[in-house]
Amino acid sequence: MSAFTLPEPSLDPLLNLISQYRADTRSNKIDLGVGVYRDDNGHTPVLAAVKTAEARLYESQDSKSYLGLTGDSDFVDVLGNLLFQSPTGRSVAGAQTPGGSGALRLAAELYKTAYPDNTLWVGLPTWPNHLPLVESVGIKTATYPYFSREKQALLFDSMLEHLSNASAGDAVLLHGCCHNPTGADLSSTQWSELATLLADKELIPIVDLAYHGLGDGLLQDLNGTRTVIQHCPQTLVATSCSKNFGLYRDRVGAVYMVADNKALAIRAQAYFGHVARRIYSMPPDHGAAVVKMILTDSNLRQEWQTELGTMVQRLNTLRKAIAAAGASIGLEFVSEQKGMFSLLPLSPEQVDSLIGDHAVYLAGDGRINIAGCQPPHLEHFIESLKSVDFHF
Ligand SMILES: Cc1ncc(COP(=O)(O)O)c(C=O)c1O
Repeated sequence: MSAFTLPEPSLDPLLNLISQYRADTRSNKIDLGVGVYRDDNGHTPVLAAVKTAEARLYESQDSKSYLGLTGDSDFVDVLGNLLFQSPTGRSVAGAQTPGGSGALRLAAELYKTAYPDNTLWVGLPTWPNHLPLVESVGIKTATYPYFSREKQALLFDSMLEHLSNASAGDAVLLHGCCHNPTGADLSSTQWSELATLLADKELIPIVDLAYHGLGDGLLQDLNGTRTVIQHCPQTLVATSCSKNFGLYRDRVGAVYMVADNKALAIRAQAYFGHVARRIYSMPPDHGAAVVKMILTDSNLRQEWQTELGTMVQRLNTLRKAIAAAGASIGLEFVSEQKGMFSLLPLSPEQVDSLIGDHAVYLAGDGRINIAGCQPPHLEHFIESLKSVDFHF
């Protein structure tokens, strides 16, 4: 009889951290590990606009029949309008996906179909799932330096130097805004310079937009993505509503190809459905229906924008508070970064000691979730960093 043997899967270390945190009985424990937004009570709330939309949906929805492989085209259009606003000279293809992860998977599959022998370039450091996700599609990958954790600085020149070695048809994965894990985004000038290089070298940008609206605002956060779209004949964009609508577990996202010709957009649209059919068939509907309702109802949309604004304001206030309280150990850089994360230059031993000796939970690479640092915990956090001899 054949034995059903399974190799040990490599587990996401953050998932381990969650159970370790839950089991910890110390009253001063702080969770800066998991990448979800939290309010002042450490809670990840359902937005009021979402609650209202869900109630209306409950009353009005009269069927749960299949939607179609690319989801609800109205949802895809409404979200696409928020992102692109009819880019001149471009045609947009899009599909609803299970979260930003599903969108990245479809983008990667589409890219691999068009360029089976090319390489996808990923900037480091990055979200830990980026490389496994694209490599599982069978795409060859290469890396380029993006940010120095030790210097807390972008490595822009080095990034351009590496990408200038890429071949025509290679893809470049970019974080649209609120870079995870560093919080360090390119400036407008740098985006323009990068977009020019991408166009000159005939590289295909794949923009991951997982934190739209959590940096400088809904419009400003699209600056880089729109610059790339203007310069490049084809751009793939993977977006997520997990963070900006707080719909993490409902799995809402969309993938788009913004192309310079309609025929390609039509073909890409068909491919999105074709690929989805072979993986999960159709995306879940509920969260996307909620997002569509919010974006198409002016009152709900306003309410959502206000709630999103409150989240951003809280993140920025916390960033300033951490920078001020940690000025003596060099934490001022935290206030200059954007979105939910910063990446502290801590050794693995310092991280172990923060968790084991001080109940300060953070990712092994030194990433902290700013939203997890509630004001009453700030002093304990800074004192703990001092205790492990952190100094930038
Ligand atoms: C950079 C980045 N991309 C994509 C995702 C995936 O988001 P989703 O939960 O919508 O799949 C995340 C989630 O943390 C992320 O940080």
